[in-house]
Formats: sequence, structure tokens, C-alpha cells
Amino acid sequence: MKIDTILAQAGSRRDPITGAISMPIHPSAAFQHPSLGQSTGFDYSRTSNPTRLALEESMAALEGGVAAFAFSSGLAALDAVFRLFSPGDTIAVTEDLYGGTYRLLEKFSRFRNLDFLYLDSSDTGAVAGALDQPRVKGLFVESPSNPFLKIADLDALGKITRERGVLFIADNTFLTPVLCRPLDFGADITVYSATKYLGGHNDLIAGLAVAGTKELGEKLAFIQNATGAILGPFESWLLLRSLKTLALRLKKHEENAAIIASFLNGHNSVKKLYYPGLPTDLGHAVLARQSSGFGAMISLEVDSRARVEHILASVKVFMFAESLGAPESLVTFPLVQTHADMDPAALERLGLNDHLLRLSIGLEDPADLLADLDAVLA
Ligand SMILES: Cc1ncc(COP(=O)(O)O)c(C=O)c1O
Repeated sequence: MKIDTILAQAGSRRDPITGAISMPIHPSAAFQHPSLGQSTGFDYSRTSNPTRLALEESMAALEGGVAAFAFSSGLAALDAVFRLFSPGDTIAVTEDLYGGTYRLLEKFSRFRNLDFLYLDSSDTGAVAGALDQPRVKGLFVESPSNPFLKIADLDALGKITRERGVLFIADNTFLTPVLCRPLDFGADITVYSATKYLGGHNDLIAGLAVAGTKELGEKLAFIQNATGAILGPFESWLLLRSLKTLALRLKKHEENAAIIASFLNGHNSVKKLYYPGLPTDLGHAVLARQSSGFGAMISLEVDSRARVEHILASVKVFMFAESLGAPESLVTFPLVQTHADMDPAALERLGLNDHLLRLSIGLEDPADLLADLDAVLA
């Protein structure tokens, strides 16, 4: 079935008793066994829950995966995925990535004796070189990266990882399966902060991991049940409901982002602009090949720290907040928000400075967004 159809009917047709079109919310913690050795398919909701399963099966279908798992947050999903590795393994990781993921890797996963090698994953040659080291057992990419929106060539990386038997994990939060499906290009697992576009309303924290093979699905099911960071039934239902409008929302997010990017491009107060939808952007051609759209995240460096402070204090339509992928347009200051826990040397290396802002373009009328930016950049 086509993606729009899977989205529109996410969670429908699953209750033959009532014919409910909206998937019912099953808050039950435990399920009655018909008799010894028998199960309805559900025993205990940490292991599996009907509402969560409806979401997970919809997500696996959307992604072209074998199995999906819904977690209590994007970081919980990432934590579960990194538990697939064994002590002593090294994982090559996109260097400009969400600061919370960096914190998870540096402050927790290192205790399990995992090592991380940070690199520019838009540089396919650099990735190939890193993966030639035998201790490197995994590749984790965020594409578009955060906050510089660099694009990894998923097809090329899929080939490189397959040849070397390296586990390839892609955080596809900024694009969603509506625009890009990393498993189609050779990724083994896709991960999401479903808090963002998938949830799409700024009213839910959730994470998803989608496995491309049965074996990985079984391992993730074991990890999820053993560690327990599941998504609850109500949030699972809310996320299912959000999926139904995902394609429509993304279309409008993207239309607005293209308008905003062309306004910012060449503006006197904007020193650097990062948006892969611009034909001049370094990642444009690769993203055009592997995605049906460019997303709606824009990063920009303005002319001064004073300008940053003025923007954050003065915007009237944009809101100064730390998230993305919602109806409301948000402006984020990565240095003190999303990337506050990245160590200073890493920030310096990336060029992540106090002039950089990240915009999540929402669903408002673009004229209001333009007027807001025009006023604070003037
Ligand atoms: C790209 C990306 N991945 C993962 C996460 C973590 O997700 P959550 O906040 O749902 O735990 C975020 C959060 O901002 C993110 O931007």
C-alpha cells in the first residue's frame, strides 16, 4: 500500500468486535490467559500492548521495516539501539548531532565500554576510512544533521556498511518516512524522536526504532522488554492519530520553509544559512536523490550575539523554545539549549557558536512568519 493510505488508516480495522475506526486505547497492564500455556497474544503491557502494537505495526509498514518499537522518548529508543553493541565496540557517529544523543553516548554508553568516533558523515570517504578499522562495528548517522543540516549519502553508506558487515543506524527524525526511508538505502535500523514531526503537535514525548530484519527485531524486542522504556497506551494512541495527518503537515511545513529560506538567503544580517532545500547547499543534490523533500529545519548564523539576544526576546510569531516539528514555529539557540552538554572542544571543532540559531518552521501563514523575521533582523 502507498504511504498516504497507510497513514490515513493507521490503527484502523483492528477491532473486529466493535468495528472501531479509531484504534481503542487499552490501558490494561495484564491480560487474562484463556488457560495454561495459552495467550491472547498479549500477556503484560511492558512486553506488548494492543494500542502500542497498532502504532508499531503502522510504523514498520510506513518504513518498509520488519518490526517497530515505540519507546517513552527518542532518547530511550536510542539507548535501546546502542545496547545492541558489545563492550569493546567502536561506533562511528555523525559529529554534529543532537546534543542529548551526544550526552547519552558520552556520559552513559561509555560506561558499557563502547567507544565513539565522531566524523562528518556527509564525507563518504571519511566514513569509509573509519569503517576500515576492525574495531568499528557500527555507523550512526543523523541526516540532516543537527544543527548544520548536513546530508549523508545513505545509498553509498549502505553499500560501505554492508561490505564491511557494520550495523548502520539512521536517525531520520527531521525527514520522517514520508520524505525518506533509510532502510530502502541499506540502513539496518531507523530511529526517531517521535516527539517531533511524527507526533507533530508539541504535546507528546515518544521515540521509535524500526528494524530492517527479523533478527534485529527480535533483539530490540528483548531489549525493550528487559529495560522497559515503553510508550504508554494513551501516548501510543495520540501518536497513531497524529500519523494520519503527517503527509499533509509535512507538505505545508516544507512550503513555508522554502519561503523563509529564500527570504533569509542573502539577507544582510544573516552571515551563513543552512538549508538543504537551497540549490546552492552542499547537501542539496544528495538529498534530492534520496528524499522526496527537504524538510523544514533551517539554521542560520546572524551577525552578532546581540542580534541573537534581540531575536530571542523580540519574536512575536516564532517562539523561543527547544524542540521542532510542531505546528508552532520555534527558534532555538543550540549553544545553550540542544547542545549545552556537548564539550567545548567539540563545539569549537564544529563551529557551533553563539551566533547560530535553528528554526523549526511551523504551519502558520508564511506572511506572518516573514513579518516576524523581517522585524527582528532589520
Ligand atoms: C534528531 C533527534 N534525535 C533524537 C532526539 C531525542 O528525542 P526525545 O527528545 O524525544 O528524547 C532529538 C530531540 O531533540 C532529536 O532532535
